[in-house]
Amino acid sequence: MNNIHELGKKILADVASAGTLEQVETIRVAALGKAGSVSSLLKTLGSMSPEQRRVEGPLINGLREDVASAIATRKAALEAHALDVRLATEQLDMSLPTHDISQGTVHPVSQVMDELAEIFADMGFAVAEGPEIEDDWHNFTALNIPPAHPSRAMHDTFYFEGGQVLRTHTSPVQIRTMTTQKPPIRIIAPGRVYRSDSDATHTPMFHQIEGLVIDKDIHFGHLKWTLETFLKAFFERDDITIRLRPSYFPFTEPSAEVDIGYRRIGGHRVIGGKPGDDGFGWMEVLGSGMVHPNVLKNCGLDPEEWQGFAFGTGVDRLAMLKYGMDDLRAFFDGDMRWLKHYGFGALDVPTLSGGVGA
Ligand code: PHE
Repeated sequence: MNNIHELGKKILADVASAGTLEQVETIRVAALGKAGSVSSLLKTLGSMSPEQRRVEGPLINGLREDVASAIATRKAALEAHALDVRLATEQLDMSLPTHDISQGTVHPVSQVMDELAEIFADMGFAVAEGPEIEDDWHNFTALNIPPAHPSRAMHDTFYFEGGQVLRTHTSPVQIRTMTTQKPPIRIIAPGRVYRSDSDATHTPMFHQIEGLVIDKDIHFGHLKWTLETFLKAFFERDDITIRLRPSYFPFTEPSAEVDIGYRRIGGHRVIGGKPGDDGFGWMEVLGSGMVHPNVLKNCGLDPEEWQGFAFGTGVDRLAMLKYGMDDLRAFFDGDMRWLKHYGFGALDVPTLSGGVGA
């Protein structure tokens, strides 16, 4: 009994003076581990007489409980102290400057292409693609522009030796779609196009988006509705006025150039408004028309059975009109300041809140 008392006093004193978690653990193993001093005492209970066990049992068990709880208390105290020390020493100075992380932006052309894809997706158009190095047939001949046709001169074409060209417009994607898919067809084809031309509003490479619908009983009204709906959604305003002006493209008949109304406000052209409004004017934004029967035939479609419309426009130009840049060349200079100013955040949700029909 005395033994038990002495052992208890010693262990509790050791625990109280333990200065580290490791020391506490060593004491725990020495007392409560398999071969520990307290565990050994507990084992002696089995060989005691019932009377002896009645006296010693509570003492030995009491010892085990006292030791276990002293160890737990000491451990908790040491852990709390360790945390206090860390909190006191590991300070973060939130006012220190951080490393400069340079963040890129989404180029306005990419942004506008995404917006266009979204608008036309709402109207059931899929996105189609074609190669930038085209053959003469897809870029010209199949589009009803045979060799020596005068309208070839309208395109300042980059030719490769061997007759291939850098596509001068996205219209060859019409041909590639009609020769590989069965109507009904509703596609848009955004992408790069090339013409040998350069000034403030022309660059040798620029971006177009083509639209093509082929189905039964398609007429000019469908074309007009589609363009009006698209322009309203793109410029995010309802007061858009458009004007279809008779024009000529070899691959459409009849053909129309599409003008959009704007108002001159403080030196800027702001899309929207109608004839008669202060500072009102028209500017051309699209080429369009009903797909020429020769084009349908060139793609193996019977013009008596299938009709359709097509349109094409400059993506860069749409971006300039919507977001207010005035020099096209800056689009392709890669000037970081320009990109920071006109670019879009990568995680920005598309700016079109409602989509078509909202
Ligand atoms: N491909 C024409 C251009 O580049 C635009 C256009 C496309 C016109 C489709 C009519 C129909 O100018």
